[in-house]
Amino acid sequence: MNILVTGGAGFIGANFIFYLQKMHSEDRIVCLDKLTYAGNLSTISATLNNPNFRFVKDDICSREAVFKLFEEEHPDIVVNFAAESHVDRSIEEPGIFLQTNILGTQTLMDACRTYGVERYHQVSTDEVYGDLPLDRFDLFFTEQTPLHTSSPYSASKAGADLLVLAYHRTFGLPVTISRCSNNYGPYQFPEKLIPLMIANCLSDKSLPVYGKGENVRDWLYVEDHCKAIDLIVRNGKVGEVYNIGGHNEMRNIDIVKLICRELNKPESLITYVTDRKGHDMRYAIDPAKIHAELGWLPETRFEDGIKQTIKWYLDNRSWWNEIVSGEYKNYYDKMYGNR
Ligand code: NAD
Ligand code: TYD
Repeated sequence: MNILVTGGAGFIGANFIFYLQKMHSEDRIVCLDKLTYAGNLSTISATLNNPNFRFVKDDICSREAVFKLFEEEHPDIVVNFAAESHVDRSIEEPGIFLQTNILGTQTLMDACRTYGVERYHQVSTDEVYGDLPLDRFDLFFTEQTPLHTSSPYSASKAGADLLVLAYHRTFGLPVTISRCSNNYGPYQFPEKLIPLMIANCLSDKSLPVYGKGENVRDWLYVEDHCKAIDLIVRNGKVGEVYNIGGHNEMRNIDIVKLICRELNKPESLITYVTDRKGHDMRYAIDPAKIHAELGWLPETRFEDGIKQTIKWYLDNRSWWNEIVSGEYKNYYDKMYGNR
């Protein structure tokens, strides 16, 4: 099997490459990544010399580059992780989100139509469903929940999802879509909640909690997400959407306090800052479909996963130190300077 993984130098894409190499070492993997601020070649450096692996630095929006790659590689399966993925950045600069997340998806699918693939898989997000109220813990997102987005990021992901389903209906492209809840684990860029709080704790910097910290996210260890995608790609039904989540809802403030406890840092580092515009209150996935159809269940409990993740950031300071001391510093000062 020849598998094209786009966005494989980012957080989840890289973990997916590691998962494939562990579980299906016979497969050839081609990684296409533009190496934006969020992509990091050092994440996948150990795999660059593997004869079953090829890295190509290019843009999923470039028809020329994408078609040339398909001409050379004729992938059997395409798994699209490549995206602009950070809500806060989408509020600052929506355009690049529409470009990469929607038009990039179209370009990839046009190449799939031209060259033929067994499967095009779109890695989407639970954020396409909008949010749930804090006082209705009986409600969950199912695959039937209407799309109802809040941020330019989630709107761009929902737009891409609709386009993927349209390419299936109109052109018969063999697609699947997965919509996962918030991931955490090794190699997550330190602009996202958990690695940002770990990195700031380790540098004794303040911990910026948006609003009152009462917003709820449904956290899943990244390898459990990778396993679910692998199952969907190999055994899932064409044309279907699968929600992925492990019923692990937590308030932001409780996550931040837990990180303080694990790292022996005082809660006085916590600073409540101006809330995010349009901030979604609660995400919560109902994973009944993927469990019933594909037998998927999460394997890593949050208590263990968060400890492993904190240990990873402690053991791999050079990976994130390089990021927080580079261009990211300007982003941090701009976003958090006067908040
Ligand atoms: P990330 O920001 O860490 O990585 C994105 C990767 O895509 C980077 O390597 C970047 O260089 C690459 N990329 C960006 N634009 C590109 C382009 N035009 N051409 C080629 N490569 C490009 O993101 P992530 O957290 O790993 O998320 C991966 C996917 O999973 C995204 O589609 C995201 O919407 C989805 N998702 C993320 C989460 C989460 O909690 N992080 C949850 C559910 C779904
Ligand atoms: P984030 O990791 O950006 O993921 P998403 O917005 O896609 O869910 O944020 C997770 C939650 O943490 C979200 O409710 C916003 C909040 N948050 C903070 O309170 N402070 C921060 O510095 C960041 C980055 C996020």
